[in-house]
Formats: sequence, C-alpha cells, structure tokens
Amino acid sequence: MPYIRESIITTVNKAGNVHIAPIGIIAENDGWVIAPFRPSVTLDNLAEVPFAIANYTDDVRVFAGCLTGRKHWPTVPVDGFPVPRLEAALAYSGLEVQAVDDTVRGQASSAA
Ligand SMILES: Cc1cc2nc3c(=O)[nH]c(=O)nc-3n(C[C@H](O)[C@H](O)[C@H](O)COP(=O)(O)O)c2cc1C
Repeated sequence: MPYIRESIITTVNKAGNVHIAPIGIIAENDGWVIAPFRPSVTLDNLAEVPFAIANYTDDVRVFAGCLTGRKHWPTVPVDGFPVPRLEAALAYSGLEVQAVDDTVRGQASSAA
C-alpha cells in the first residue's frame, strides 16, 4: 500500500497568483508523486511554474476551508523558491516537477 502524506499544496501561476489545495502526495522511489485532478488549478499552475510546496499543518480549518470555499489563507515567501508556503505550516517541503505522467492512475476495473 502506498504511503500518502496529506498536505496542503501551494502553487503559483505565471502571474504569481497563489493557489492552495489539499492534496495527498504519494511516496514513490526517492520522490513524491502529485496527482491533481484534470482539470484543476493545481495542474494548470504546475504546467506554468513547475514547483510546489507541500505544507504540513494540523490546522484543520485550512483543509475544511479549502473544501467549503474559504481558500485564502496567509502565505509567506520561501527564500530562493518561487512558491510561498502556508503561514500555518508546521513544516514544509519544496517540490520541483521532474517528470510528467499523463496516464490516469487509480482507476478500478472490474470483471462482470
Ligand atoms: C485530504 C484530501 C486529499 C486530497 N487529495 C487530492 C489529490 O491527491 N488529487 C486531487 O486532485 N485532489 C485531491 N483532493 C481534492 C482537492 O483538494 C480538490 O479537488 C481541489 O479543489 C483541487 O483542485 P484545484 O487545484 O482546482 O483547487 C484532496 C482533498 C482532500 C481533502
């Protein structure tokens, strides 16, 4: 069973607008797989600026807020990195896209 780290992912578009979304990142080999839905702002942003921050927080208001439309949470710049982190992050990881896999994962198939 894969190890999934539930995170708040921050990304930016080319204009520098910050987007925040709860996304589970999947440990694979020495890196992390990020699997945003298509379409999603996170996917679009990663195509424009291939960096993200995985923010680790126990502030459930951020998770709940993102799901109920309150998506604007304070962020702070990270030195030398193009994407800010969540101010409420207890810890965070800077991620850079190394490869893109366009196939759809995780679809269950069943035999009749
Ligand atoms: C705990 C948790 C884990 C999630 N994991 C994923 C994920 O792995 N991929 C994904 O696309 N959405 C995931 N979601 C849903 C996204 O947060 C939601 O679809 C979000 O709006 C992404 O679209 P956006 O980038 O347009 O905001 C998760 C939501 C929660 C609460």
